[in-house]
Amino acid sequence: MDYSEIVREHSFGTWRKQSGWKPINLISAKGSWLYDDKGRSYLDFSSQLVNVNLGHGNERVIKSIEEGLMDVQYVSPAFATKARANAIKSLLEVVPKGIHKFFFSTSGTEANEAAVKISKLVKSPKYKVVSRYRSYHGSTLASMSLTGDYRRWFTEPNSMPGVVRVPEPYCFRCPLKLKYPDCGIACANYVDYVLKQEGNVSAVIMEPITGTNGVVVPPKEYLPMIRKITKENDVLFIADEVMTGWGRTGEWFAVNLWGIEPDIITTAKGASASYLPVGVTGVSKEISDFFEDHMFAHGHTFEAHPVVLSTIPAVIDEYKKLDLLSHVKEMSSYVEKRLNEIKEKHKSVGDVRGIGLFWGVELIKDDKMTPVGTYEDKYNGKPTTVDKITSYMMERGVYIFGGASWLVISPPLIINKEEIDKGLNVLDDALQISDQEFHENRSK
Ligand SMILES: Cc1ncc(COP(=O)(O)O)c(C=O)c1O
Repeated sequence: MDYSEIVREHSFGTWRKQSGWKPINLISAKGSWLYDDKGRSYLDFSSQLVNVNLGHGNERVIKSIEEGLMDVQYVSPAFATKARANAIKSLLEVVPKGIHKFFFSTSGTEANEAAVKISKLVKSPKYKVVSRYRSYHGSTLASMSLTGDYRRWFTEPNSMPGVVRVPEPYCFRCPLKLKYPDCGIACANYVDYVLKQEGNVSAVIMEPITGTNGVVVPPKEYLPMIRKITKENDVLFIADEVMTGWGRTGEWFAVNLWGIEPDIITTAKGASASYLPVGVTGVSKEISDFFEDHMFAHGHTFEAHPVVLSTIPAVIDEYKKLDLLSHVKEMSSYVEKRLNEIKEKHKSVGDVRGIGLFWGVELIKDDKMTPVGTYEDKYNGKPTTVDKITSYMMERGVYIFGGASWLVISPPLIINKEEIDKGLNVLDDALQISDQEFHENRSK
């Protein structure tokens, strides 16, 4: 049975022009592998959209959903359920210190919408929010306004008022044209300047490691400085861990890498390992106390959906049983070593960076480090070198997720060394495409 025709004709392919979209007819998935109707298999080298952290077809998680369905399929969020209590208990064991109360929704976008609304309610009349240019926080009005990347351009000028963007700690292409460590982490100090000059700022929202915009790991000083600056300026710090949470970096949450305690944490994707759609907004005791005598003016019909929440304890149990945090740390050194070898071999690889099972490979097209693709290209729907590489890899049985000038390696956390080798060998091969472009530009 071929589903691609009806899917393509009567539903939208997102973040793309519709012409040229030929979705592959996927019929099943197991572990780190996807299978199509032609009997071909594909290694899932990016966990789809960096979200299928436990891999596909995990029987224990599926069983938790079956049990959840048999218990209570749906009740209004005004009721208490066993699923909600169990999800809370499990979450409290793993979230960063200080996170005390949760709002449950169904996506990362909604988790961020809630976080921003909460920060404005708590800090009223302060209403501004600081975010970074290279960021993605979701696709609805507030979350898209917070987003820095080119996807925001489509919704302007109808954005949420009061968003102020700052440059990011992107040392490979420092927006301030400085060099680490001599820079004194000027990009963090600049946030202090912005908070003081802007006034009326309720919150700063940041991905601890920039995800979809290139897996940018900040220098070690950066986030502790940002945390100190937000405290000094009486501004809430929201950590968007939609992508970086849930073992991706070898820690439950990426803020743990730097010992940061956010006022608000948002997460989704790995929270249910994506077996069902969940979003979580976790807040500190101080914020939760504020709402004792103030209206918590937010909610959804599918908020705290009992079947959705039944996945959370099952997923957390599975992470623990499989000792995935240790496994990720072990695989991290292996991926790092192999990626550095690949970088040595290919002129077109400008940078490899990452941590855990979260790595970015940034491609350049000449000696001047010109990126192989830009936000403008993506905005105009122009096919890029990265698209050629991802198609080539798909033809050779490896699914990988790419950005304007980078590839994101973020396989299911259960991946083994042989599978990592398969993915990296195909990548090594595919990089002849960008190498060729590099050589052509050099000979011009
Ligand atoms: C850091 C970050 N925040 C928010 C989102 C939005 O999450 P969702 O697509 O579940 O709405 C994403 C999605 O990729 C993300 O990477």
